[in-house]
Amino acid sequence: MGNPSAGDWTNSLESQLDYYRARAAEYDEWFERKGRYDRGPEANAAWFREAEVVRGELRSLQPFGEVVELAAGTGIWSRELLPGADSLTVVDGAEEMLAVHTLNVPDPSIQRIHADLFRWSPDRQYDLVAFGFWLSHVPKELFAGFFRLVSDCLRPGGRFFFVDSLYTETSTASDHELAPVESQFQRRRLNDGREFEIVKRFPPPETLRNDLRELGWDVDIRTTDTYFIYGWGTRKG
Ligand SMILES: C[S@@+](CC[C@H](N)C(=O)[O-])C[C@H]1O[C@@H](n2cnc3c(N)ncnc32)[C@H](O)[C@@H]1O
Repeated sequence: MGNPSAGDWTNSLESQLDYYRARAAEYDEWFERKGRYDRGPEANAAWFREAEVVRGELRSLQPFGEVVELAAGTGIWSRELLPGADSLTVVDGAEEMLAVHTLNVPDPSIQRIHADLFRWSPDRQYDLVAFGFWLSHVPKELFAGFFRLVSDCLRPGGRFFFVDSLYTETSTASDHELAPVESQFQRRRLNDGREFEIVKRFPPPETLRNDLRELGWDVDIRTTDTYFIYGWGTRKG
């Protein structure tokens, strides 16, 4: 599929959100390497080891202050953010994800907002904006706009933190085929066989670094050996 022209992303982004709404109940199988995401002991061990590296790096940014987590999903990263946060607000476009989030991270102080991130704007500012496995779902054409949102969420001196996928076959389910790295789209399947097309980008670390610097961010972008790209940044000046 070719890229929709700028401003014509509505259908792709709706399909992407439909996919995550339908996937909410089985979503954690991916991070826990269960079912179709179980890629054997060696690959699984590398996944868990590398995830722990990212968690450790995130912990080193504590104290986080007041935090907003965008596209928080089932709460995999909310759990890591909560202990170092003065407050935690999470935003997600899927009510089904927020329902699982409430079960997985049942802290009564968490504020949950159901909103489409391509339309949402914050009504206050935070010290940290976090987004796990979300940046790869933002089309290239909407990347700068997304970072305007990140900026709008931040107090002066505030930081963002992100983690996302490297282009690695065993990262995804055994019945998913990775589209070419330059494609913005991937075909995804649920346990019941339903299929969806979603946006999924894998910009190389150097490209991401340069793009963010051009947009006025000071960034530190790193990768683990196989599976993850992650980093943090603040606005320049
Ligand atoms: C790959 S998951 C990431 C979840 C979580 N951050 C993690 O690291 O596991 C993408 C998340 O984005 C949410 N999402 C998809 N489209 C969205 C949109 N337009 N606005 C807000 N959230 C959206 C999905 O519901 C899902 O929870």
